[in-house]
Amino acid sequence: MASKTPPFTIQDDTDGGDDLRMKYRYLDLRRNAVQKNLIFRSNLAIETRKYLAEQGFIEVETPNLIKSTPEGARDFVVPSRMNKGQFYALPQSPQTFKQILMVAGFDKYFQIVKCFRDEDLRADRQPEFTQIDCEMSFVHQEDILNMFEGLTKHLFRSALGIELSDFPRMTYDEAMLRYGSDKPDTRFGMEFCDLTDVAKGKGFVVFDSAESVIAINAAGCAEYSRKQIDELTEWIKRPQIGAKGLVYVKFEADGSVKSSVDKFYSAEEQQVWLERAGAKPGDMLLILCGEDEKTRKQLCELRLEMGSRLGLRDPQKFCPLWVVDFPLLEWDEEANRFFAMHHPFTSPKPDDIVKMESHDHTLLKSMRADAYDLVLNGVEIGGGSIRIHDRDLQARNFRLLGFTPEEAEAQFGFLLGAFEFGAPPHGGIAFGFDRLNAVMNGANSIRDFIAFPKNNQGRDMMIDAPDSIKLSQLEELGIRVVADKQ
Ligand code: AMO
Repeated sequence: MASKTPPFTIQDDTDGGDDLRMKYRYLDLRRNAVQKNLIFRSNLAIETRKYLAEQGFIEVETPNLIKSTPEGARDFVVPSRMNKGQFYALPQSPQTFKQILMVAGFDKYFQIVKCFRDEDLRADRQPEFTQIDCEMSFVHQEDILNMFEGLTKHLFRSALGIELSDFPRMTYDEAMLRYGSDKPDTRFGMEFCDLTDVAKGKGFVVFDSAESVIAINAAGCAEYSRKQIDELTEWIKRPQIGAKGLVYVKFEADGSVKSSVDKFYSAEEQQVWLERAGAKPGDMLLILCGEDEKTRKQLCELRLEMGSRLGLRDPQKFCPLWVVDFPLLEWDEEANRFFAMHHPFTSPKPDDIVKMESHDHTLLKSMRADAYDLVLNGVEIGGGSIRIHDRDLQARNFRLLGFTPEEAEAQFGFLLGAFEFGAPPHGGIAFGFDRLNAVMNGANSIRDFIAFPKNNQGRDMMIDAPDSIKLSQLEELGIRVVADKQ
């Protein structure tokens, strides 16, 4: 039989839309670009195993049919036929199992493993994705950072022929202050400049009523036209970002100052801002204001956008960074309770343990954890922590997170029980393997590095999943379908 004409051209720059290419993924996979990505991925997995095996790690498989591990996302659940009315959950990560392996005496574990999270999807998120998951016993944070900096350097060397220098470290607080993000893209500067003290109190009500007034310096942008600034203002006001407006101050090439707030501030006053932000003639300050946390998030988006527009985010340049000293807890307004910022097994910094019994929110928020992220070019490549290995401390942490002792026992009795038999101090990390592949190739979407990815609705377009199942299957599982009346 003669082959059919493919529904899109199979060449490096294809004309097929995303859904079409995903439906005919076997044709899409014929394209050189995609083949190259999957070969790269295969090589990276081999090099990961080589490196970790050389360091004495053993790969252990953990189960996929487990019960819920709270990592912040929803679980995918699987009904049990033999235990009607009960459900397994697919692991969001093998977190508790790898800790149990430490109790069992496997001091260096790793696994290249599928994880499942039912969360909203984006370019860097898939419902099933792969981690390089690792755990070590008898270690401090320093040992983990060194070991996995070593792995990252090895992967860059072997897969790309690039020698990375030692990774800088930055605390979470510093990252938020300088970049408004816990995963700053450090390929370029354009750091935040706080103008609150010099901008408030001069009669400009927008700034006066704001908690924070913060600027970035867009180098060489004084030539921006009215139209360009309007367009940027519209961009920042989109609901996804939600800023109320944008103030600009141009440091003209001739040394004069021109801004959207000339009416409220003298040239001298604005010179102070320019100086503080390190602006040179030809530059332009972009200023946002409002509630501190929100303003930093919005300005972070603007910084990244300006970085892209000015060509400062070179995909061939790699700037890794360890972000350390994350807060232990995160307050959730809606749920009106604290959540673990990393996960409930993360150890508070020893000096902060005393604060755990406090009811003072500010004090609780100030607690720091032995938790760290590996950030590469503004992408969170990996995250981990030193774990709690003491039963009582773990129980106290569950209490802090709003678990009753009964709930903690029901969900994590096995872990608490294991700790009673002697647990070594331990800690670990998990790399997002799909993300690592994408960033190493200067790509934005992890889909291009997954053989059979899902679309943004979580659908596999090729096999057409998810799908309904037969009534008989449902009955066998003891699941009753309630007709949707809408
Ligand atoms: P965490 O939840 O930070 O930590 O996940 C580790 C890394 O996995 C990647 N990642 C994802 N990649 C693609 N799609 C997703 N939906 C997705 N979600 C996460 C990220 C992230 O940094 N058990 C802990 C690790 C530990 O403490 O050792 C954990 O899973 O790159």
